[in-house]
Amino acid sequence: MDWGMKNRLSRIIKPETGRTVMLAVDHGYFLGPTTGLEEPRKTIEPLLPYADSLMLTRGVLRRCVDPSSNVPVVLRVSGGTSILGNLADEGTTVSMRDAIRLNVSGVALSIFVGSGLERQTLVGLANLVDEAEEYGIPVLAVTAVGKDMNRDARYLGLASRIAAELGAHFVKTYYCEDFEKVVRSCPVPIVIAGGKKIPEKDALELAYNAVQNGAAGVDMGRNIFQSEHPVAMIQAVREIVHKNATPDQAFDLFNTLAQEKKIA
Ligand code: 5RP
Repeated sequence: MDWGMKNRLSRIIKPETGRTVMLAVDHGYFLGPTTGLEEPRKTIEPLLPYADSLMLTRGVLRRCVDPSSNVPVVLRVSGGTSILGNLADEGTTVSMRDAIRLNVSGVALSIFVGSGLERQTLVGLANLVDEAEEYGIPVLAVTAVGKDMNRDARYLGLASRIAAELGAHFVKTYYCEDFEKVVRSCPVPIVIAGGKKIPEKDALELAYNAVQNGAAGVDMGRNIFQSEHPVAMIQAVREIVHKNATPDQAFDLFNTLAQEKKIA
């Protein structure tokens, strides 16, 4: 791995803890104005100081994030489909040249293992790795799960391992039972998505179980920005990821910060 690649990766996964809290706000690329992200700038700005990196599209990056902010960016470069169409039919939507112009620290693309379009997305990943490595840019492979797939260790382990075999530098997948098996058989760091909004305490438990079972952190979206107290929530997640807080400790912090906000 060359210096530039290592440097960019260490901007995302913090060397002090070997972990990361990525803030995922890329949902609009196929969902449009998702709840909580209707006005991306308003959602993102207060969370930025607590995010180790920001995962988003170039459109939102350009229009809704201050270029003087020093947050590392993991740019989503796959898409081309919507919730109304065939989600697996994604292609690459951003050139490497534009990604470099945007000074990104990583690029992200989804793979759809088991779908009729798995070959297209897997070859797309391999091609993106070839191109990104030319410039020392790490690639995050996102294991998208179709409605008819099981989010179990067998499937997520298969998809994560294939992503790593094709050269992804880190992988985003879901937490599941026997998650340690997914981590053990994937030779690159794994971060987990939060998934649909669930109660804060449950989301904190999910993050805790993931890192305790080997995840390098989270790339969390809805469970942060759809919380009634997103700034308190991201800080609670940080306590778990970087300080090994228990879910109870993190939930106490969440409640304290949420209460302070109400009083202020
Ligand atoms: C979809 C994505 C999402 O934007 C991301 O996974 C969402 O994060 P969360 O599930 O925590 O809202 O990458 O493939």
